[in-house]
Amino acid sequence: MLLFRMFFRFQLLLQVIFFSFAGLSLAEEIPELAKLGRQLFYDPSFGGSVDPKKATGFSCTTCHADFNESEYSDGLIRSGSSIVGVTRRQKSQWKEIQPNQLLRSAGGAGVCYQRFLQGIPAKKVNPIAIPEQKAEALMAYFDYVTSKAQVGETEQVSYNPLSRTEAQAAADKILKLDGDADKGWKLYGKSCAGCHSGPKKRGIGTQLVRSRPPSNLEARLHKIASYTRQGGYLMPALGTGKLSDQDLANIIEFLRDITEAKK
Ligand code: HEC
Ligand code: HEC
Repeated sequence: MLLFRMFFRFQLLLQVIFFSFAGLSLAEEIPELAKLGRQLFYDPSFGGSVDPKKATGFSCTTCHADFNESEYSDGLIRSGSSIVGVTRRQKSQWKEIQPNQLLRSAGGAGVCYQRFLQGIPAKKVNPIAIPEQKAEALMAYFDYVTSKAQVGETEQVSYNPLSRTEAQAAADKILKLDGDADKGWKLYGKSCAGCHSGPKKRGIGTQLVRSRPPSNLEARLHKIASYTRQGGYLMPALGTGKLSDQDLANIIEFLRDITEAKK
């Protein structure tokens, strides 16, 4: 009996030791620097270093996933690609970044930090404006998610918005397709609503369906289609890799229906 009790206590002791180790390893799972990087990734003030007079309200997570989208898609269609794999890339797609600036610009994120979080024009962007320790924290977070995701080869990403003329031609084609408004509403929710809120409400982006119906609805819809392919000052373009012509025709049909229903 005594022996049994002693054994029982010993087992309890073992359990306490085991669980405190397990607890420790859980707490250690995300390194401190990566934890800071994660917070910055979700923060429109970027830990306070974004100029409040210029802040757009975007955070990195407005446009980028921090998980492997092909494996664990949440259904959203983001303008930027996932940050999984960034730390494996050899060079940046932004021409303003020299190869020796790759680390200092947090894998090219420095361009987004200026252009999208602060609306600084592309020509004036300083790709190494992120405070050094914050750039390191972002890289630590990118590294952390990359190692967790266990992805194989990482593909090189690129951003190729259409020129004005190309976007007009694309919109000509899109407006001739038969759209499905129900599908369009779902696609709108996945790819536009994050920034434009509901089509009748204003989010970070503009109100797409205005309170006064446009005098020329076709021209308005044409602009919406071409703008999506061309992008704007703050809005990145969404190419055919993100939304096919048919997808965009569905969104246009949805916007047509909701505009006409207002009359
Ligand atoms: C308004 C949308 C938007 C926001 C906000 C944004 N990005 Fe980007 N980002 C893009 C687009 C578009 C690209 C180009 C296509 C791609 O690589 O996905 C890009 C590219 C990148 C790249 C690859 C750059 C290269 O050199 O190839 C990284 C890394 C990145 N962004 C990180 C960030 C981080 C970190 C933040 C927050 C500080 C951020 N982005 C904010 C849209 C955005
Ligand atoms: C990352 C955020 C973001 C996403 C996603 C986004 N937009 Fe925008 N959009 C904006 C912002 C901000 C503006 C105003 C500044 C500018 O032009 O860049 C804008 C402007 C526009 C404009 C021009 C202004 C106007 O009302 O005529 C159109 C059209 C437009 N967006 C359509 C769309 C459509 C359609 C989608 C989805 C397919 C979409 N946007 C997705 C942020 C976004």
